[in-house]
Amino acid sequence: MNNNNRGDVKNLSLLGIDDLSQENLHFLLKTAAFFKKEFYKEGRIIHCINHEQTRGLVVQLLFAEPSTRTRASFEVACGKLGIAATSLWNLHFSSMAKGETLEDTLQCLIALKPNIIVLRCGEFKGAESFLRSSPVPVINAGLGAKEHPTQALVDAFTIQEKRGKVEGEKVLIVGDVLHSRVANSNLKLLTRLGAKLGMCTPEELSPVDKQAWKDVVRFESLETGIKWADVIMCLRVQRERHSLRNIGFSMAEYRDKYRIGQEEMEIFRSDGVLLHPGPAVRGVEIANQALNDPRCHIVNQVENGSHVRSAIITLMLNLEIKSQ
Ligand code: CP
Repeated sequence: MNNNNRGDVKNLSLLGIDDLSQENLHFLLKTAAFFKKEFYKEGRIIHCINHEQTRGLVVQLLFAEPSTRTRASFEVACGKLGIAATSLWNLHFSSMAKGETLEDTLQCLIALKPNIIVLRCGEFKGAESFLRSSPVPVINAGLGAKEHPTQALVDAFTIQEKRGKVEGEKVLIVGDVLHSRVANSNLKLLTRLGAKLGMCTPEELSPVDKQAWKDVVRFESLETGIKWADVIMCLRVQRERHSLRNIGFSMAEYRDKYRIGQEEMEIFRSDGVLLHPGPAVRGVEIANQALNDPRCHIVNQVENGSHVRSAIITLMLNLEIKSQ
């Protein structure tokens, strides 16, 4: 592995894909592949890292919204690098249960001076400027419906791994684009890496920012979209974010028009790749037959989460990588 050509992280924190330069992106995809290869060879990646650099480093996680994959994979990624990870996630047992605000909770964690804060939370007023002013680098692990940059990096890595490249790949995003931070980050990242994007979404769940999505091909019919696509990326229907909206259709109607099942897999290309950032709602977004199909790489996405996040931490902390 070449330690040069990684580029500095443009801003101190990783809040969105725009914080990463092209050099950063290529470094992250290459480093994640290197870590995965070494992990398969040696069962660990600690030998790839200079222990003197990581000794005593601490990553602090704060998860104010539910998570399985992102939180666990950050903890595993830190462990594999020999970095301590400490998590605040059961907020009923934090001082937020006593009325402390999220901002004040974050100020407490900043005062403890961990080396990185990994944050998942809903949107809050002034979030961007508040987080940008943190002297401790913050990694966005899912901020409301805004962005989820580390998930998009996992998705791009998985597409590259399974399809051999991202450039020129036709990626069909299916489902609740309106509420999806994953879709917003993938729009930026996959476009920058040269993929072509399509979307198939109910009008009620299509993005509000038409300008940002103007170059994305819109498919009214799922069948036409699937015949066009090399990669299908299903999204979760984010019912917890629908509460203030009258969505205008039932889950049964959604399932009938947008679920990926046996019939959809039959018309999908034989070497296509089916992805879902998870958690997938079985039977609504995706049927068991599709989950069991060899073209479904959702489990690989989860596995790749730890390698990609180890690479992200390596970049953010400017850790040296040892080839041997
Ligand atoms: N993809 C994703 O963010 O999953 P979790 O909510 O389980 O972390």
